Amino acid sequence: MAYSEKVIEHYENPRNVGAFPKDDPTVGTGMVGAPACGDVMKLQIKVNAQGIIEDARFKTYGCGSAIASSSLVTEWVKGKSLDDALQIRNTQIAEELALPPVKIHCSILAEDAIKAAVKDYQSRIAGAAEVGHERVKAA
Ligand code: FES
Repeated sequence: MAYSEKVIEHYENPRNVGAFPKDDPTVGTGMVGAPACGDVMKLQIKVNAQGIIEDARFKTYGCGSAIASSSLVTEWVKGKSLDDALQIRNTQIAEELALPPVKIHCSILAEDAIKAAVKDYQSRIAGAAEVGHERVKAA
């Protein structure tokens, strides 16, 4: 199967590969797997005090389309609010990368990864608020 030029371009020059420390409270981590093929994608977002995603990283153990999808998504989420990041749809990714039907699940992985990263960040924030509250009560 031939990959589109955009997939090959991202595959050869992936953006934002790497990882942030998991214990950084400003980081949300999404780790998802595709049951269809066993590929795994880890996507992280770094969120500033205004709730804007200022940076992103990914590591993907998967096919060229999955690597290109995650690379693209790390570019797209930068500068977005969490709500706007949740609006990213796999169909937009598939369209941008001209993915064939057999590779649509690779773009779904990227949509799921960003959603999981946002959810993880939000649960950390909620957890931190709760801890703060308990401290106040105990004082
Ligand atoms: Fe499964 Fe691409 S073939 S993520």
